Amino acid sequence: MKLLIIGSGGREHALAWKLKQSPDVEKIFCAPGNAGIASVAELVPIKIIDITGLVNFAIENEIDFTIVGSEQPLALGIVDQFEQHHLKIFGPSKLAAELESSKVFAKHFLKKYNIPTAEFRSFSVAEKYDAERYINEIPAPIVVKADGLAAGKGVSVCESKEDALDAIRSMFDQKIFGDAGSNIIIEEFLEGEEASVFALCDGINYKLLSPAQDHKRILDDDKGKNTGGMGAYAPAPIMTADLFQYVAKEIIEPTLRGMQLEGRPYKGCLYVGLMITQTGPRVIEFNCRFGDPETQVVLPLLKSDLLSLLIASIEGKIDKERVELSKNNAVCVVIASGGYPDEYQIDKPIFGLKQFDDTKNVIIFHAGTKFIKDTVATSGGRVLGVTAIGSKLDETIDRAYRSVEKITFDGAYYRSDIGKKGLQHLSIE
Ligand code: AMP
Ligand code: GLY
Repeated sequence: MKLLIIGSGGREHALAWKLKQSPDVEKIFCAPGNAGIASVAELVPIKIIDITGLVNFAIENEIDFTIVGSEQPLALGIVDQFEQHHLKIFGPSKLAAELESSKVFAKHFLKKYNIPTAEFRSFSVAEKYDAERYINEIPAPIVVKADGLAAGKGVSVCESKEDALDAIRSMFDQKIFGDAGSNIIIEEFLEGEEASVFALCDGINYKLLSPAQDHKRILDDDKGKNTGGMGAYAPAPIMTADLFQYVAKEIIEPTLRGMQLEGRPYKGCLYVGLMITQTGPRVIEFNCRFGDPETQVVLPLLKSDLLSLLIASIEGKIDKERVELSKNNAVCVVIASGGYPDEYQIDKPIFGLKQFDDTKNVIIFHAGTKFIKDTVATSGGRVLGVTAIGSKLDETIDRAYRSVEKITFDGAYYRSDIGKKGLQHLSIE
């Protein structure tokens, strides 16, 4: 089969790396890809939001199956458009992708189907004064969320009521997120530890991959600004077998049933972002695609053929598939450009990559890289995801960091505590 992967991050590199291992794959294209993805796929210079360009490319190159990495094209309806042209594509329809692209839709959906989530109310820009009054009625901390996609920046966790009032003004008056902030959610602050669960869904049935934990803040001990994710590990020991079962029965199954009832059957990867509170797991957010960097630890632990699973998802046959997971664990440390998540410099040559070409227990996934002549250089905030695989979490963490230390570029930054929370859970057990 000829495949097309859409996106250019570590997640897409991990997808390409895993799909390349499938016996049925003849060739992979990736639009637009990056310098690392170029080692497993042919790069195609088409933007991820150029849906017509992508449709035309798929037709002209007789692509058998397209896999969408990021949320933007899904929210734009890429799946609907590919299907109109009888092209096979993995991901939810535009209406189903609203679980991610509209937090107002997602929260009302969760409430309607009695799926555990934080208490909330939604407000439109015309209801600004009601929103302010509501903030004055509820205790801080308060979480304010823009309804639409905001490149991971649409959530403000506010310590005080003043901060929450500022947050709604920046969304409603200053329109910092444009139309994405014309509607907002104000919700209860949840305390606990986060976990990410991925379900491959075919509209009715689903299969789960290893539960993972991301590290969203820029600094050690979860301090500092939010980022796209500074590292991940899987399986996350916080997700005990009992909790995992609860998430399946009380969250994923009612979500799939509810989406069918709403006339928006969910096919694709459903990413459930959870807060594990004292009183059980609550949904913080849904994403309508694989998570990044979690995919960089989840796919190396998947023994089964990914291509068969993805095809079964879109053909409504996922219940016939077996998902075999490795007993190992995986740890991914993201190396970012200095300054990220604020302004950062690019075009820095990266040293030390070649020594990992043939390693088995360490995989270097590229996120923000490009070629400058023959040299691999930085081109984004998150640059590389260094993933180590091993049988014991402490050893895997060491292996990841030993590898990270061998790679250098001007201004390189990484957190030094990826996986530490996992070790704490293991020591309690
Ligand atoms: P999101 O952009 O929806 O992934 O949210 C970004 C981050 O904000 C999450 O990963 C959480 O760390 C935090 N967050 C979102 N909602 C809540 C909440 N209700 N309580 C506490 N933290 C939250
Ligand atoms: N790991 C967070 C995300 O993919 O949105």
